[in-house]
Amino acid sequence: MTPLNLLLLGSGGREHALAWAISASPLLGDFYCAPGNPGIAQHATCVAIDITDHQAVMSFCRTQRIDFVVVGPEAPLVAGIADDLEAAGIKVFGPSKAAAQLEGSKGFTKDFCAEFDIPTASYGRFTDRAEAIAYVKVQGAPIVIKADGLAAGKGVTVAMTTEEALKAIDDIFAGQFGAAECVVEEFLEGEEASFFALCDGEHAVALAAAQDHKRVGDGDTGPNTGGMGAYSPAPIMTPEMSERVMAEIIRPTVAGMHKRGHPFKGVLFAGLMIGKSGPKLIEYNVRFGDPECQVLMLRLKDDLLTLLLAAADGTLDKVSVRWRNEAALSVVMATKGYPGAYGKGSEIRNLDAAAHGDDVEIFHAGTALKDGKLIANGGRVLNVSALGRTVAEAQTRAYQAVDLIDWPEGFCRRDIGWRAS
Ligand code: AMP
Ligand code: GLY
Repeated sequence: MTPLNLLLLGSGGREHALAWAISASPLLGDFYCAPGNPGIAQHATCVAIDITDHQAVMSFCRTQRIDFVVVGPEAPLVAGIADDLEAAGIKVFGPSKAAAQLEGSKGFTKDFCAEFDIPTASYGRFTDRAEAIAYVKVQGAPIVIKADGLAAGKGVTVAMTTEEALKAIDDIFAGQFGAAECVVEEFLEGEEASFFALCDGEHAVALAAAQDHKRVGDGDTGPNTGGMGAYSPAPIMTPEMSERVMAEIIRPTVAGMHKRGHPFKGVLFAGLMIGKSGPKLIEYNVRFGDPECQVLMLRLKDDLLTLLLAAADGTLDKVSVRWRNEAALSVVMATKGYPGAYGKGSEIRNLDAAAHGDDVEIFHAGTALKDGKLIANGGRVLNVSALGRTVAEAQTRAYQAVDLIDWPEGFCRRDIGWRAS
């Protein structure tokens, strides 16, 4: 097979982990990433293309003879980049705009789950403030209020009191999250897990599961973030539970989207609550999780590019996926202040020494190079990741590497993996 020229879109730790895995593929030809980051630049040529400009992406693909585009983040997918690339005859990993509604619209997903009997929290969907308030008053607290649309994780309030719920509704209808539409749903109890499956429009193949730590502080305290650390496997996802998730949630979703004429291709990321009665869907994302992707890539034994191509080509029924027996764990190092206001430009030193050894990989998220120095350029900055025979061993190795990094302006949680170690 002639080598494939590939363009990866994105610039975070998730994309660095994807680039790291893709770069090991025997199928790979020229490898570009837009816009990328200094970590990704170790594996791919980074190009400063504005990925919201679909014409610019397509014209780059034509001039560099790109065979395959892998889309990391959700925003370009929700904006229809997969449709534009496919229309131009360029193969792409990632769902169409219509299929990306599974992440882009909470209301769409709730109605979809109701139609196809996919277990999820009971809900009401409102465009009228008074009706939303009336519904909350009948249901009582605890209750969950969600703004519709992409709100970068900030549009969800888990309200322990009715007052909190009413305030969240007021914020949404005051236009804080764009469109004034909200979903009010039942509070689910249990343990959360992130489950991933590759889909090709018709078939789905389970990947591994992971658990993420969303709160900024030790002991799962403080405000929500994009994710402060992750580990895989997730002990709660036994083989039996994974099969239930495939049978009750993932396969009905793939079949339902196919039936609706919007086949889902790409990676389906199910945020699950595992409760007494089994798994329930909290939300879908249409891309890999960040930092969940980092731990999955460390554990993946098979060639990632082969799997991504099978998802794009509709041949996932012919592949199987194997995982290392080891556990992987990733600690997010963030700039002090995150998820609130934080400074940029502080220097990070000693990364090479910290990344020493086969079992440790440091993925870059918000880093940049300035005058030959590595600096922090975002909230979540580094993902210090390690393999180990157990989650506890991976945790020890990851924190040993963290402790070698010289970056006084950064911080991390010290308890990633506490449920499993
Ligand atoms: P989401 O943006 O939908 O993933 O929600 C963010 C977080 O809110 C989730 O990771 C859960 O911790 C929590 N959450 C969302 N929906 C519910 C629910 N129905 N019951 C309990 N917790 C929820
Ligand atoms: N870590 C959660 C996410 O990627 O949405």
